[in-house]
Amino acid sequence: MSWFFRNPNISSIIGPIQKTGSNLLHYTNRENPVMSATQEYIAWSQELSVGIRELDEQHKILIGLINQLYNEAILKRPDNSVISGILNELAQYTVIHFSVEESLFRIFDYPNTDTHQQHHEQLKESLFDIQNKFRLGTPVTLELMGFLRQWLKQHIMKDDKQYEAFFLEKGFNANWSKKAVMGWKNLEFNLS
Ligand SMILES: [Fe+2]
Repeated sequence: MSWFFRNPNISSIIGPIQKTGSNLLHYTNRENPVMSATQEYIAWSQELSVGIRELDEQHKILIGLINQLYNEAILKRPDNSVISGILNELAQYTVIHFSVEESLFRIFDYPNTDTHQQHHEQLKESLFDIQNKFRLGTPVTLELMGFLRQWLKQHIMKDDKQYEAFFLEKGFNANWSKKAVMGWKNLEFNLS
């Protein structure tokens, strides 16, 4: 089954998505135009770095989506189909990003895996809840945007930063990124 993000910005970041029979999500990486296309509700700075380039780049994509949501839902006259598309992309990319982190935890036998995964589950639940409420007519408000900003920043600052020293001590290359390792080839991540 082939599936494309509705927002052309996101399609250009991660390319066409394919869900295969084996429940693998498969995508290609591109540049991140979202960051420059919107006013920065959340600004990425070095204090949000988790020390590994690829994961920083993925966090920037999540930040870009929240910034895009802020622009569309708060600064512009809200268009429900556009907002719904961004919420879908945020949920989809969050699932992808958390799966990448969790795969690395398993490969490197990260000791805080269980707690971190539990936090991922809670974060996904709150995001899916926002999506459902929006479908039922609850608008995206400034208060909700504040929640999403906290939702992401707190997780990066409190949970994600904890793995930096561990991965680097295990010999992980801080400059690793999909682009650097795979030379723009496709990657597959197990979402089960
Ligand atoms: Fe995480």
